Amino acid sequence: LYIGIDLGTSSVKILLMEGDGTVKKIVSREYPLSFPKPGWSEQNPSDWYTQTMDGLKELLQEADKSQVAGISFGGQMHGLVILDKEDNVIRPAILWNDGRTTEECDYLNHTIGTDKLSEYTANIAFAGFTAPKLLWLSKHEPDNFAKIDKIMLPKDYLAYRLTGVHATDVSDASGMLLLDVKNRKWSQEMCDICHISIEQLPELFESYEAIGTLKADVAAELGVSTQVKVAAGAGDNAAAAVATGTVGEGKCNISLGTSGTIFISSDKFRVDDNNALHAFCGANGKYHLMGCMLSAASCNKWWMDEIIGSKDYAKEQEQITKLGENHVFYLPYLMGERSPYNNPDARAAFIGMTMDTTRADMTQAVLEGVAFALRDSFEIAKALGIPLERTKICGGGAKSPLWRTIVANVLGIPVDILETEEGPSLGGAMLAAVACGEYASVEEAASKIVHVIDTVEPTVELTEKYEQCYTKFTKIYPALKEIF
Ligand code: XUL
Repeated sequence: LYIGIDLGTSSVKILLMEGDGTVKKIVSREYPLSFPKPGWSEQNPSDWYTQTMDGLKELLQEADKSQVAGISFGGQMHGLVILDKEDNVIRPAILWNDGRTTEECDYLNHTIGTDKLSEYTANIAFAGFTAPKLLWLSKHEPDNFAKIDKIMLPKDYLAYRLTGVHATDVSDASGMLLLDVKNRKWSQEMCDICHISIEQLPELFESYEAIGTLKADVAAELGVSTQVKVAAGAGDNAAAAVATGTVGEGKCNISLGTSGTIFISSDKFRVDDNNALHAFCGANGKYHLMGCMLSAASCNKWWMDEIIGSKDYAKEQEQITKLGENHVFYLPYLMGERSPYNNPDARAAFIGMTMDTTRADMTQAVLEGVAFALRDSFEIAKALGIPLERTKICGGGAKSPLWRTIVANVLGIPVDILETEEGPSLGGAMLAAVACGEYASVEEAASKIVHVIDTVEPTVELTEKYEQCYTKFTKIYPALKEIF
């Protein structure tokens, strides 16, 4: 048995998989997310650990615990977790969707310069990335900065508590802006720029490599063997790519989670010249390009929970009947935006309402606005000459048949549906299986485990209608940018 842990932003999802890929059980546990100031986003690493251990116990309740062979992760990326010499967490983790580092990103992109950053890391600075957060900390919380003994990413904190090994994997490390992505090693230049040393950073592994085994006390608490291997795991998008079989040149996956990503697998290292897409290492030993929007399914969650006041997402969507004819548009920038605009100050907006606008039109606009914003990154990938002919889809938003149809028609490509939307947790379990030798490679695991069960085909009529809507959508952000 293999366990995959998806350390997400709103919850941890934990999945138990048999060696042949059969999903036996999935449990989840929520934890709070705090926004101490507008645009800030933090979480307590101890909550991640407590909830994960609690979830693991429920996951294993009826299982034959002696059969558990491996554990691995898909984790929310970019979060800064810092520990002191006694392994105490110094301050709450600063998350991927935190926008406090505008000044530090300006310094990195303009004073150091995007050419140098791209040369050292294959990427430029975005507000959520880890390196600008270290610069922010050195300026605004120098006492905390001085205490740093270990720097790690969110899932690596779990791995550290489970094994005692300070490790990370190259896919997640890619989002720190401290990794020389092409050569899969830490960049000394970036460490110097951020006033840190390589000794403070975790040891680097490939996602499918074992970093160690469970600590005796953890194994005893879970009732499993101390021989259980823990594999490095991957950033959640790279892990989801494994779970959706998005390995191999030009394969594409879309994740509609708290964030929205478009992930394009690549066998060789490549960079988008404008750095609007991230150039990161993949979980299969190769690379990928990725566009990331900061608010995707979270836009619908905000709209439903905070504004409409209903948890019945499916019922709300039943009222939507006229696709491609909505006169209302929605900009999905509730937390600023990463790809392609790199603007932490961007904000969400509804535009185009009239007296006959209904609640259903607004709900529809939210779903469409997210799809249009994904298309922005999709267009950049196409402009690079990557032939994107179809995509997989995963994440909570992918449960909605209506949203899947909107995405297929806004992008104008078929969307393949898989047995489960649980991308990162399944990907984590698959990486654990590879680390334990159940499969020879990530590719082999993907080819044996991942099955497409359905496909949403775009229609000519709807794609044409959405083409016109998208043209209008692309004019809204430039028009509103000055007032954000
Ligand atoms: C990717 C990103 C998000 C988080 C969400 O660059 O920031 O997708 O990984 O958990």
